[in-house]
Amino acid sequence: MNILLTGCSRGVGLEICRVLLEQGHTIYGVARSCPQEFKDLQAQYPERLHYKSVDLSDSEHVKDNIFRDFCSNRVQIDGFVNNAAVAYDDIITNVNIDRLKAMYDVNVFAPIMMTKNVLRNMLLHHTKGSIVHISSISVHTGYKGLAMYASSKGALEAFSKDTAREWGSLGIRSNVVVPGFMPTAMSSTLSEEQRAKIYARTSLKKATSIRSVAETVAFLLSDKADSITGQNIHVDNGTI
Ligand SMILES: NC(=O)c1ccc[n+]([C@@H]2O[C@H](COP(=O)([O-])OP(=O)(O)OC[C@H]3O[C@@H](n4cnc5c(N)ncnc54)[C@H](OP(=O)(O)O)[C@@H]3O)[C@@H](O)[C@H]2O)c1
Repeated sequence: MNILLTGCSRGVGLEICRVLLEQGHTIYGVARSCPQEFKDLQAQYPERLHYKSVDLSDSEHVKDNIFRDFCSNRVQIDGFVNNAAVAYDDIITNVNIDRLKAMYDVNVFAPIMMTKNVLRNMLLHHTKGSIVHISSISVHTGYKGLAMYASSKGALEAFSKDTAREWGSLGIRSNVVVPGFMPTAMSSTLSEEQRAKIYARTSLKKATSIRSVAETVAFLLSDKADSITGQNIHVDNGTI
């Protein structure tokens, strides 16, 4: 399968990339940077790992930046994983409109414009494709300081549900993976005390495994999940 993946350079995206490459798929990955760990993966899979440096903040130009030359209609897109995101954390009384819009560009507007182009590609090739968005447990449980970030992920969950409804008759599926807290760059500013509090809210009392999230994404992309659409799959150690 050909999979378009955002945020492939590190964290969860890098692990999704690794799992999909191990399964024999071809990746069209976008992110702004290309760290050593990603370069190592490129060296291991030179034929099947394609990369383009793209800043998704430029949500108005995703067609030009991604679909014109890099992942054009010559490529049959079988799956799209919308993983890249930024977190704008602050209390609501401090919210700044420019920072809010900047986060929405990456977390919501670019993914919607990418989905538009991915669907058009799937229609052109008559592909029964699979779309997977990465959300966050903060949508469902609430955490102080994450209201703006959670609102952007809530928007994605609604968008995915309606994508599933709109295109299901053509066999195109759309689902969301909802991870709990994982030890990545995104959560690196949390103190030990904050982490302990978060883990205490999970049934398994620990951080969510990045590998488990990546394996769930791979499952949803595969035919094994061909009766699953419009769903939110929680991979969160049983957070309450
Ligand atoms: N970490 C957690 O605890 C947690 C919990 C729940 C959900 N999530 C979600 O899981 C997903 C992955 O997060 P993560 O923890 O792996 O975060 P991360 O380590 O910060 O990685 C974020 C990825 O997104 C890319 N990215 C960010 N801004 C971008 C931009 N403007 N243009 C292009 N790419 C951009 C980054 O690449 P470059 O910097 O190279 O551009 C990177 O590859 C996100 O959707 C996040 O919201 C994370």
